[in-house]
Amino acid sequence: MDDQAPAPFVDASRASIARVYDYLLGGKDHLEVDRRAADAVRAVVPEVGQIARDNRAFLRRGVTYLVREAGIRQILDIGSGLPREDNVNEIARAIDPGVRIVYVDNDPVVLAHARALLAVDDQTAVVTADLRRPGELFDEVAAVGLLDLTAPFAALLCGVVHHLSDEDDPAGILAAVRERLSPGSHLLLSHFLDDGRSRAYKLEVAFLHGGLGSGRFRTWEELREYFRGLELVEPGLVYANDWRPDATTHVESPVRTLYAGGIGRKR
Ligand SMILES: C[S@@+](CC[C@H](N)C(=O)[O-])C[C@H]1O[C@@H](n2cnc3c(N)ncnc32)[C@H](O)[C@@H]1O
Repeated sequence: MDDQAPAPFVDASRASIARVYDYLLGGKDHLEVDRRAADAVRAVVPEVGQIARDNRAFLRRGVTYLVREAGIRQILDIGSGLPREDNVNEIARAIDPGVRIVYVDNDPVVLAHARALLAVDDQTAVVTADLRRPGELFDEVAAVGLLDLTAPFAALLCGVVHHLSDEDDPAGILAAVRERLSPGSHLLLSHFLDDGRSRAYKLEVAFLHGGLGSGRFRTWEELREYFRGLELVEPGLVYANDWRPDATTHVESPVRTLYAGGIGRKR
């Protein structure tokens, strides 16, 4: 990481996915434009912040499974978001201090924030790259030299694929990601779910046209396609809160049918 790089230009007139998410999670890194975009979706579904918390909890349980039970020691977290108090490196290293992690996000603000956090950590790196160009993204990750992409690793796509539009061809992008998984690697994915009710449609309209400009709610069928050819880890692709819930999981979440998650393994 280049410590001498200047702070990124922040466009205060446009909402940022990373900052809107931070606001919904009760964080401190957001601007007025982000709060307006978040409030537009909250006006439609007041419990929308719970989707963000449910996602975060799914990520914690998923990473715990990957490191504790699946033996994963390398993690590629794509669309990693702003650092929080429960980062993937902390969750994984609480189980095995040797886990190596590369965070990737297309928002340079994430890199700027991560610098301070990672200044004393040579087992974690941050890369600015775009999931819409998976070939370049994997090349840049390989160039960092921290992960051995020929050995098993976990690719995390937690809360990011729903920010790809249909024109971006998310199924094609996922195929490109799966192709780059080495045998024994895992894919963790969580996504807004179209549960067939009008609430999902209204929420999608608010995400797309309320200031953020992205946030697609996709069907089970569309999400299953993202795991094509992978062996789904039990209990499969399910409502995120039903994925190996623990004592802290908000199983009665009022928004549980709006969010799905799963983990697949490449043979
Ligand atoms: C909702 S946050 C999720 C953060 C974290 N993965 C989690 O689950 O808590 C989505 C993140 O994906 C990033 N993102 C959106 N589109 C992206 C793309 N095309 N390439 C890389 N990152 C992207 C955003 O900048 C944001 O930080």
